[in-house]
Order: sequence, then C-alpha cells, then structure tokens
Amino acid sequence: MKVLSVRLILQAVILAVVFSATGHAADSGVPARQGGLEAKLEYCKTCHGLSGQGYLGYFPMPRLAGQQPEYIEAQLRAFIERRRTNPIMFNVAHVLSPSMLTALATHFRGLNPKPFGGAPRGSLAEGKKIFEEGLPEANVPACSACHGTEGKGQNEIPRLAGQVYAYTVGQLRGWKTERGQGSAVDTSAIMAPTAHNLTRSQVEAVAAYVSYLQ
Ligand code: HEC
Ligand code: HEC
Repeated sequence: MKVLSVRLILQAVILAVVFSATGHAADSGVPARQGGLEAKLEYCKTCHGLSGQGYLGYFPMPRLAGQQPEYIEAQLRAFIERRRTNPIMFNVAHVLSPSMLTALATHFRGLNPKPFGGAPRGSLAEGKKIFEEGLPEANVPACSACHGTEGKGQNEIPRLAGQVYAYTVGQLRGWKTERGQGSAVDTSAIMAPTAHNLTRSQVEAVAAYVSYLQ
C-alpha cells in the first residue's frame, strides 16, 4: 500500500505540473492589482467565513484557512474547467485571471482560526483509527499516509484539519457525482476508490475526527 500511495502522489504531482503549465500559458501577464485582490478576498469571506474558518449556511462552506495554496488553486481550476461541478464556485471562479487565482490561493495559508466545530462526538475514536490505520479489509488506506499525521496536507493534497464536518461528509458521499467530470483524468481519481469504499457511518466518524484537528 505504501509503495502504491507514493506512486499515486507522484502521478498527482506530475498532473499538477501539467495543469499549472497550461494555466500560466493562458495568463495575460498583467499582475493583479492589490485593490482588486482585497475586494475579491472580502467576497470569498462572505461565504467562507471572516477568517476563512468555513460556515454552515444553506450549503456547507468549506474552511479555506490554512489550506495548501496548490490545492486551492487546483480546485479553482477544476471548478472553471467543470472537472469539479459546482454552480456557485463556477460563477465565482470563472471570472478570475490566472494570476488572481494564485494570489487568492496564497492568502489563506496564513490564517489559523479555531475549527468551526459542531460535529457529533460519539465516534471520534473510530474516526481516529480510520485516519491513522485505514480499513485494510475494506481496501481503505490510512488517510494520514497522504494527508499527513496532523491532517495538514501538502501541495495538491488538501488539509483536512478543522474542516467543516457537513462539508467533508458531503464531499466523501458525493465524490463521483461532483469530481472528475469530463474526459480528463485529474487528481480527484486518487480519492475515488477510498471515498467509494467507506460506509456512511465510517465517513461520518472520520469527518468528525478531522473536524476537531487544529
Ligand atoms: C456565494 C458563496 C461563495 C463565495 C462568494 C465563494 N465561495 Fe468558494 N465555495 C462555496 C461553496 C458552497 C463551496 C463548496 C462547493 C462544493 O460543495 O463543492 C465552495 C468551495 C470552494 C473551494 C473548494 C474547497 C475545498 O476544500 O475543496 C475553494 C478553493 C473555494 N471555494 C475558494 C473560493 C474563493 C477563493 C472565493 C473568492 C474568490 C470563493 N470561494 C467565494 C461558496 C462560495
Ligand atoms: C493516496 C493518497 C490519499 C489517501 C490515502 C487519502 N487521500 Fe484524501 N485526497 C487525496 C488527494 C490527492 C485529494 C485531492 C483530490 C482532488 O484533487 O480532487 C484528496 C482529497 C480529499 C478530500 C476533499 C477535501 C476537500 O477539502 O474538499 C477529503 C474529504 C479526503 N481526501 C478525505 C480522505 C480520507 C477520509 C482518507 C482516508 C480514509 C483519505 N482522504 C485518504 C489523496 C489521498
């Protein structure tokens, strides 16, 4: 499993390099003006929370605080190219220039608010076990192998620590209907079997566990 994971990560990194190369080629080369960036950030925070901590509105709004910039940028591109289908974030992202995407993605790394909280606490021990050891009998690898022992992620692998519970549950339950759409294979394929092999109660346990990680 270890060897397989490392190979998948390498594939992910290679894909990411290919995607960023295409993105920058299309850039007009005009740097984002500071004022423009500030206004955009304020807009992001009306949904994602004043300090990027996430929010539970009519839809769960994911935490962006402390998120890996490479991951944020990759996901904004996926929304724009409709590899990840979400009408709200398509509308938000498709007007942004490539240099603005990079500037926005970088901003959130420095924010460190407390987790949003509110997840049920009944199966935190089960969630911790799944996170640290996986479920070998169900072909589920340890989440920590890729997302890191503290759930902070790296590069295109997202931070899960402190993520809004309802958002994580929704992503893992609906993986294949939202991500990896269209014909291009992207980094979302790495998570598809894992999301598929978790039962609903296992998803809820691991989502609750990571939601409390700081
Ligand atoms: C109108 C509300 C709204 C606004 C404004 C908004 N977002 Fe979002 N954003 C959402 C929702 C809802 C989701 C979850 C989408 C889903 O379920 O896939 C999301 C998802 C994301 C994700 C994916 C996060 C992850 O963990 O995969 C990123 C990145 C993101 N938004 C960045 C931004 C940025 C940057 C801005 C400002 C330019 C912004 N958003 C503005 C509502 C919003
Ligand atoms: C082989 C590496 C790997 C393993 C193991 C792994 N993940 Fe992931 N995970 C990824 C990658 C890469 C992404 C980004 C997918 C994309 O680009 O859409 C991701 C994305 C996610 C997301 C979406 C986060 C967001 O902000 O939208 C969740 C939730 C997630 N993983 C949970 C888990 C859980 C829970 C486990 C363990 C049961 C796990 N992952 C195991 C590589 C991995």
